[in-house]
Amino acid sequence: MIKPRLVETGEGIQGDFDVRIYDRMMRRMRDKGWLETKEIVKEGITHGLALEVGPGPGYLGLEWLKKSTGTSLKAVEISPGMIEIARRNAVEYGLADRVEYVKGDARKIPFDDNLFDGAFTNGSLHEWADPKTVFNEIHRVLKPGGRYCVSDLRRDMHPFVKWFMRAVTKPKEIRPGLMSCIAASYLVEEIEAIRRESITTQQPGSSITWAC
Ligand SMILES: C[S@@+](CC[C@H](N)C(=O)[O-])C[C@H]1O[C@@H](n2cnc3c(N)ncnc32)[C@H](O)[C@@H]1O
Repeated sequence: MIKPRLVETGEGIQGDFDVRIYDRMMRRMRDKGWLETKEIVKEGITHGLALEVGPGPGYLGLEWLKKSTGTSLKAVEISPGMIEIARRNAVEYGLADRVEYVKGDARKIPFDDNLFDGAFTNGSLHEWADPKTVFNEIHRVLKPGGRYCVSDLRRDMHPFVKWFMRAVTKPKEIRPGLMSCIAASYLVEEIEAIRRESITTQQPGSSITWAC
């Protein structure tokens, strides 16, 4: 039987140590080509201005920018430490002029209505204190017909996949955090039920995908 969710703090990834080891893990995943950039493109988010929710150190959005032309990105992130690292990474990519990281809570996205051509977020959903409100906010800031793509871990992942993920995830200090992320993540039917209550069901072409 699948255990109930073990909810996290709702404050995102805070603290120097956690932010630094998270950055190291994601940098390594980027180097191995394990980021979900293709999913975003496959979902039709290919042009214009995109929103990223919870970019963390920023690699996913930066890779998306790098692989697309004429695009730009704005991101809302709750953790000041993550924003600092994401800004530094954007400079390293030579993309600082195409991306803006803003401190804020996705429950109240600090951007205007109907601003974005598309939106994406990876690995952040299970940390949101109120996903229905976040979905409504994504809907508010998207232009009509804008697409969004949400990917995250899932709590019912196959035990072998869980074991394997733990084994290959480095640095090893991040492994307890990975396990608590899995324990806090949703089942597909749970998140679909939340999404059905949100206004995003009226969003044509929207999609939710899962990393595992
Ligand atoms: C597990 S990390 C994923 C980071 C990145 N998207 C990635 O794929 O590596 C989740 C991120 O979402 C941020 N976050 C969590 N709750 C948030 C919220 N309510 N509003 C904005 N950012 C949030 C966390 O601080 C953290 O940086």
